[in-house]
Amino acid sequence: MRTPLIAGNWKMHKTLAEARELVGGIREGIKGIGGVEVVICPPFHHLFAMAKAIDDSPVMLGAQNAHYEAQGAFTGEVSVPMLKDAGCTHVILGHSERRQYFAEDGPLLAKKVRAAVAGGLNAIFCVGETLQEREADRTRRIVERHISDVIKADVPAERLIIAYEPVWAIGTGRTATPDQAQEVHAFVRAMLASTYGQPTAEAVRILYGGSVKPGNAADLLAQPDIDGALVGGACLVPADFAAIIKAAGTWAAVSS
Ligand code: PGA
Repeated sequence: MRTPLIAGNWKMHKTLAEARELVGGIREGIKGIGGVEVVICPPFHHLFAMAKAIDDSPVMLGAQNAHYEAQGAFTGEVSVPMLKDAGCTHVILGHSERRQYFAEDGPLLAKKVRAAVAGGLNAIFCVGETLQEREADRTRRIVERHISDVIKADVPAERLIIAYEPVWAIGTGRTATPDQAQEVHAFVRAMLASTYGQPTAEAVRILYGGSVKPGNAADLLAQPDIDGALVGGACLVPADFAAIIKAAGTWAAVSS
């Protein structure tokens, strides 16, 4: 049984005062909800303050990116040991916005994922096709390439989380249908099985991301291979994020 995981990707949002208010609202909203792991991923400069703000709660802390070197002359970058130092347990890597706007590609992400897991972080590794690729019926080929470029048997599966995020669904209000998402998730799990073997692949969480909202979360999370969500826009509204977490928690309780 995989414990569902709901991760909030704050992207480049929130001042410190707003961040504190958001975390306060999330903590309040998830009181009493069990059976689900929750991670918030604020911008780098809020990490220490947010670590403090979630200190005595079950909420965990993640970053949105990391460099593959532990230290060095890399202006503007933040390393895995620094993220650990700030209290992070997770890091998002290969988000489509990093791929699209910052030219992150397979070889670079292969180094980042290895550095993250070797440094003791759980890597939330994102894959997914663009609208053009889906319309050209290339979804599987793209997802296969994103995974095979980076995920090989030397990456410890116990520190790996995959996020399937169709680019056309991110921030657009257009969600993949539960069937569309499930189909790709099952394909990803089959790929993981060919790398790690079936029992290990069964233990890896595969999150869905792309316009997850309170209104569609339960249907997505009810799919057999959807083990949680990577949430952008809705994670900035405490009531919405809490409702998505509740949908995952409720579902876990029902199906266990
Ligand atoms: P969204 O973003 O929920 O706003 O679509 C998801 C993401 O980019 O991780």
